[in-house]
Amino acid sequence: MSHALITVDKAFQIGDVPRRLFGSFVEHMGRCVYTGIYEPGHPSADAQGFRTDVLRLVKDLGVSVARYPGGNFVSGYDWQDGIGPVAERPRRLDSAWHAIETNEFGLHEFVDWARLADVEIMQAVNLGTRGVDEARKLVEYANHPGGTELSDLRRANGAEDPFGIKLWCLGNELDGWWQLGHKNADEYGRLAREAAKAMRTVDPTIELVAVGSSGHGMPTFGTWEHTMLQHAYDQVDYVSLHAYYEERDGDAESFLGTGVDLDGFIESVVSTVDAVRAAGKHRKRVHLSFDEWNVWYMRDQEHRDDSEANVQKGPWREHPRLIEDVYNVTDAVVVGTMLHSLLRHGDRVRIANQAQLVNVIAPILAEPDGPAWEQTIYWPFARMAAHARGRILRTAVDATQIETKKYGGVDAVDVSATFDEETGELAFFLANRGLGEPAEVSLALNGFDDPRVLGAEVLTVPESGDRFTANTIDRRDVGMRPLDADIEDGLARTVLPPLSWAVLRIAVAPAR
Ligand code: AHR
Repeated sequence: MSHALITVDKAFQIGDVPRRLFGSFVEHMGRCVYTGIYEPGHPSADAQGFRTDVLRLVKDLGVSVARYPGGNFVSGYDWQDGIGPVAERPRRLDSAWHAIETNEFGLHEFVDWARLADVEIMQAVNLGTRGVDEARKLVEYANHPGGTELSDLRRANGAEDPFGIKLWCLGNELDGWWQLGHKNADEYGRLAREAAKAMRTVDPTIELVAVGSSGHGMPTFGTWEHTMLQHAYDQVDYVSLHAYYEERDGDAESFLGTGVDLDGFIESVVSTVDAVRAAGKHRKRVHLSFDEWNVWYMRDQEHRDDSEANVQKGPWREHPRLIEDVYNVTDAVVVGTMLHSLLRHGDRVRIANQAQLVNVIAPILAEPDGPAWEQTIYWPFARMAAHARGRILRTAVDATQIETKKYGGVDAVDVSATFDEETGELAFFLANRGLGEPAEVSLALNGFDDPRVLGAEVLTVPESGDRFTANTIDRRDVGMRPLDADIEDGLARTVLPPLSWAVLRIAVAPAR
């Protein structure tokens, strides 16, 4: 049995829980859009062709914001291909994913879908093959009320009211050699600055995300952010981070330590951003947008392989099956710890988007003409989106250590916590990284009176399975189950099974 004593104090708070931390990502890639969220002819499709079975799962997941339309896709995309009468929209080659884009689904369809799903839109502009003028025009088309050619075109296309899109990404992963229109940091910094200025002439209220490194393993990581921000600091509000992890060579211990790596990545970007702020004598703070994160078994997948130079083979097809990773119990625990890391840094990471939403490295799988279901990684996201409310609490952890090859000793128990003053509810999100040992957890609740357990649930290895168990089209063995928890001598206590992720909710007395 391993042990953990976790201490929180009502006075030690990190900041508000940013609702945009529970974001997702809808890219025109593989089957995320086509046969994912959109499939006319599917038994559950509504009049617009949106799959209502998927929509229900998206709503239950609690997604707050969705990035669209890419990803690598956006760097070769012309948004004007996706508006107007569907029958007149062009079929195009999508060079990012070696696919045929029919443009049946475009901006208006996404806006309609997002309204139904109750998610905010985070719209990316193409700064790869296109640039300042196209970005400016898209803001005008989307957000200007009317009386100009572009805004009147939107109205003629059926949207009388402006879309009012607040959040915009200035391109995608332009530091990466694989990206169409790849640039160096000086080129990108100047372009981001000019695009931002132009977009804000149309709508000064928008918030802008500049492209950071597409991974902290990139050779230019750090210098890219520094150089780019020297050009664009005053014009942008956020810098993006992207990170994908996978279990390699059976090293589950290191994989389960992913959150430690993520903490370091986030803190490095915060330092770099703040160094530019200090040197440039800027008053405002630039925050972080972790707009792609997840587990992704990309080892066998080519798009980052330099030797292949992003040349994909085979015929051009509509919405081919791409990176439809099937997630197991270990992946779900890792995703839980990634969410903990994001939440613990919620004072600086103000936006985060799990990549992606449906079918493509996604919490939801949907078969064409068939069912849709929750992958294992769905559950930590859904529970945190539902229960992380109010203020983020600082957590002090004294836990048994697990030795890992990559990160040295890591805490056997990982945690994040929130307190909602309005409802008087504390929420603890807990992971036991131990593969074979249960973990006895005690929680000291300083400054909170009369604690009472409201409920506890856990996701772990099912009786009939092992740590590789996944949910499939005909079996969903991995989900949330009730967990015992109690309060004794003012300490909350529970025992986490080996390899598990849990949520523990506690009611406390209202402030006097
Ligand atoms: O999410 C899949 C891809 O990963 C995105 O298109 C790209 O931005 C990243 O490399």
